[in-house]
Amino acid sequence: MAAIIQEAARRRTFAVISHPDAGKSTMTEALALHASAITEAGAVHGKSGRRGVTSDWMEMEKARGISITSAALRFEYRGHMFNLVDTPGHADFSEDTYRVLAAVDCAVMLLDAAKGMEPQTLKLFEVCRHRKIPVITFVNKWDRPGREALELLDEIQERTGLKPTPITWPIGNGGFFHGVADRAADRIVRYTRTPGGATKAIETDLSAEQAQAELGEDWERAKDEIDLLSAIGSNHDQKTFEAHESTPVLFGAALSNFGVGRLLDAMVDIAPAPTPRPDVKDDPRPLDEAFSGLVFKVQANMDPSHRDRIAFVRICSGKFERGMVLTHAATARPFATKYAQSVFGQERATIDEAFPGDVVGLVNASALRPGDTLYDGLAVEFPKIPSFAPEHFSTARVRDSSRSKQFRKGIEQLDAEGVVQVLRSDVRGDQSPVLAAVGPMQFDVVKHRMAVEFNTEIAMDRLDFGIARLTDAESAPILARQRGVEVFTRTIDGALLALFTDEWRMRGVMREYPDLILNALLADTRG
Ligand code: G4P
Repeated sequence: MAAIIQEAARRRTFAVISHPDAGKSTMTEALALHASAITEAGAVHGKSGRRGVTSDWMEMEKARGISITSAALRFEYRGHMFNLVDTPGHADFSEDTYRVLAAVDCAVMLLDAAKGMEPQTLKLFEVCRHRKIPVITFVNKWDRPGREALELLDEIQERTGLKPTPITWPIGNGGFFHGVADRAADRIVRYTRTPGGATKAIETDLSAEQAQAELGEDWERAKDEIDLLSAIGSNHDQKTFEAHESTPVLFGAALSNFGVGRLLDAMVDIAPAPTPRPDVKDDPRPLDEAFSGLVFKVQANMDPSHRDRIAFVRICSGKFERGMVLTHAATARPFATKYAQSVFGQERATIDEAFPGDVVGLVNASALRPGDTLYDGLAVEFPKIPSFAPEHFSTARVRDSSRSKQFRKGIEQLDAEGVVQVLRSDVRGDQSPVLAAVGPMQFDVVKHRMAVEFNTEIAMDRLDFGIARLTDAESAPILARQRGVEVFTRTIDGALLALFTDEWRMRGVMREYPDLILNALLADTRG
């Protein structure tokens, strides 16, 4: 039992999140390289010209130059076992991103130094706040001209309400990035690029005198800014960080591997280890209780030759041993774990044992859905992963009516898997349900999977709605009469959703009927 607690304590399970293009793929590779998990930068993501995941999805990935497969990268660093849970990296938001966040204990938020807070940065901060996930902020691309560091801190505080507490502070800006003052470790570190940037950057410790002599004005300015930070009390505080009230900030450039090692050190030193996860009754499942795990992602057809379905499970308690027969809480049926794997990119390694915080991929998992619990021994069920505010809506209908049965079956299956949310209304009937998605790529996935797995071609027509609000049975009929508004039932949970063409329309209705129930769904930052 003590061994399980010890193993859990050395786990760091996290996700790197950001607005697209802030450098998530680059950072993932840099982290892996730093921890020597991969020997060649670029082995992680299926980006153009790089080695990647072999799967059916590759076709879509290749066509779009994106990575839509999600798994976890495991590596050891300073005696700690890291699980970097990959989030989809495309220019589109999807529910998978949110689900991944249900599986981690900490998030690393990348900001582009020139762009600061971007729309998805804000949404992701909001989800982390909701899930109370501590966030470490990494200001990336400091090697390029960008914003002022202090200005970025102000923006973080203003837009997220989190108090930024820099751990490192950049020396030089506007494309001149000499290194950082490490406030926490009381060091001054100079970075030197290695040719090609594909290996670890060279780090040299400087004394204050050397920094003064060699970095001159840039050092003086950094020093003044650090004094200011100390004067206003912007110092790391473990308690407020863990309570999601403050966010430690580091500065770097993932592309040149500047600051990446420091980020890993921060993860070891301050990122929380797994803690007992509350179950549906809000009772925390002790880490050393029998095995329990949360399915946070189900990926179909990763290997075209097998037509398999892999469920990614975050271990919440106990020791996982391959071959153990678990109970699937939703159905109370046994689930055999003969084929447990750690999966990341192309690599699949069989996993024999794992501990709280680890992520295992279970093959042949057709019965498992995101949000499901698996357990051994004492029964437990974890809360469902909430679904998020859809912003894209489309009707779906079968092209060949002789395939109607397969169409219904397919939509039902994809709904249950959480690929999209399925909405229905009496007005529209069941012939062409409305699909709701957080990001439009979810529709492409539906189309692709319907064709490949259910042999059914579907036609989709985008609907001109942009906002969804939760409403109730009393408000629904009033809303349904309004222009630019339609009310639907979400099939998975029976929730009533009012769809509006745009915010202006919604505000108009609210002004006219101030008593209507219109609740924002999760991660809808428009308030
Ligand atoms: P993403 O996964 O968040 O979408 O971002 P990605 O890592 O693909 O990075 C987006 C672009 O930003 C890439 O350039 C990448 O090389 C660049 N980048 C990432 N980190 C840094 C950094 O620290 N400094 C600088 N200067 N650039 C950085 P690209 O030209 O779009 O792609 P590529 O052809 O270089 O891969």
